[in-house]
Formats: sequence, C-alpha cells, structure tokens
Amino acid sequence: MSTYIVMLGPPGAGKGTQAQNISERLGLPHISSGDIFRENLKGPTDLGKVAREYMDRGELVPDDVTIAMIRERLARPDCENGALLDGFPRTPAQAKALEEMLNEFDDGIDMVPYISVPEAVLIDRLTGRSTCRAQGHIYHVRNNPPKEAGKCDIDGSELYQREDDNINTVNRRIRVYMEQTEPLIDYYRQKNVLVELRGDQPIEKVTEDLMEAIRGDL
Ligand code: AP5
Repeated sequence: MSTYIVMLGPPGAGKGTQAQNISERLGLPHISSGDIFRENLKGPTDLGKVAREYMDRGELVPDDVTIAMIRERLARPDCENGALLDGFPRTPAQAKALEEMLNEFDDGIDMVPYISVPEAVLIDRLTGRSTCRAQGHIYHVRNNPPKEAGKCDIDGSELYQREDDNINTVNRRIRVYMEQTEPLIDYYRQKNVLVELRGDQPIEKVTEDLMEAIRGDL
C-alpha cells in the first residue's frame, strides 16, 4: 500500500513550509498544485495562461483543469509509494475526484493534517513571504529569513515576492478559502483522517507535532 497525505489549511498556514520539511524524511514527493501552476506561468504553457487569470485574482483555477493536472502528476513513477499533497484538494469536487483516482490504484487517503492559524497571522505571513525562483523554497522576512538577503540558502537562486502575495489578493484568497475549502475540514473529520495541528507556533515545533502525528497514525 502507498501513503497519501493531504496538507490542509488556509493560505499562509505553513502547508508548503511543512511539506518541504517532511517530504524527504517520509520518502514521498511533495506535490504542490500552486507550484505546478507557477511553473506553467513561466513558459507560459496553455495551462499557465488559463491559470494566471484566476491566480492573479486570488480565485481558484476551475476544477476540471486542476483535477486533470493532478491526475497526470500522480500517475508519474515517483508517486509509486504515494505522495504528500499540498494545496489539493481545495473544493468538494476535487476531494471526490482524488478519492476516485486513488480508488483506481486500490488506495485511499491515509491522513489529512489540518494546520490552523488565526487570520491576522496569515496576512502578516503572506505579505512578508519570499519564494525562491528556482524551486519554490519558502522564506519570511522576519520569521524565517535567508542567510543572505534576496538569495535562497538551498540553491542560491533569487528570492521574489509572489504576485498574489499583495494585501488585496491575500484577503480575497482567505475569503475564497473560507467559502470553498473550509467545508473539507468536516468532510475529512467525518472520514476519521483529519488531525488538527496548531500552526501558530515556531516552524520547527509544528514540524515536530506533525511528525509525531504521522508516526502515531501511519
Ligand atoms: P497555493 O500556492 O497553493 O497558495 P495557498 O494555498 O494560498 O497557500 P500558500 O502557498 O500561500 O501558503 P502555505 O500554507 O503553503 O504557507 P507557506 O508554507 O508558504 O495557491 C496559489 C493559487 O494557485 C491559488 O490562489 C489558486 O489560484 C491556484 N491553485 C492552487 N491550487 C489549487 C487548487 N487545488 N484548485 C484551484 N486553484 C488552485 O508559509 C507562508 C509564510 O509563513 C512563509 O513566509 C513562511 O516562511 C511563514 N511561515 C510558515 N510557517 C510558519 C510558522 N510556523 N511560524 C512563522 N512563520 C511561518
């Protein structure tokens, strides 16, 4: 059996940060739907052109486009032992589609860590975030600064501010999360796979809590 973990939480909760911290330890590929869209914006590919208009507004890319993209990604050989999903699913239709995909592999979701963080903290985190151009490594101007300003510690590439990390788009993304993604908390709770973690603690402490929950559950 493979292991499928779905990171759930609002924009800025720390899903990407935590997934980057544990992916290697678990031996599971970190699959971030936002990172895949951002890779496609660079080309730009046809997918990138479709995604850009939604991402710039802080809206969700349509389900059919997003589901097809994740289906293709999960079918790749590096996912043979499972995957650590970050940012997908984020609508009930995406959650159902993921279940169908995993059913096809005779598998299912093992665990959904839900990282909860108060809204005021989210805004500070997102507007202070910088991201590495080459591989999406994540920093924060105060909470998690790079050793050298503007340069990624891991691969030396330039750090930039995501276009959707401005205050207006951040507010919109948080509203969209509340309307469209929050229902998944109950959905996964009812399926007995949800584990709630306090995200307003130091990054290393959240990682420790997360690893403890995974060891206890899987
Ligand atoms: P996406 O890239 O998924 O963005 P998001 O969900 O808004 O999540 P973020 O990446 O903003 O936050 P995060 O929780 O990963 O936090 P992070 O670890 O970076 O999506 C972007 C867009 O793509 C969407 O708006 C949509 O348009 C589209 N999209 C993506 N997936 C889609 C889908 N499934 N369906 C449809 N559309 C989709 O941390 C944030 C900051 O906080 C960092 O600076 C970090 O250093 C800091 N930080 C993290 N943890 C801590 C801590 N414990 N203490 C202090 N600081 C911390």
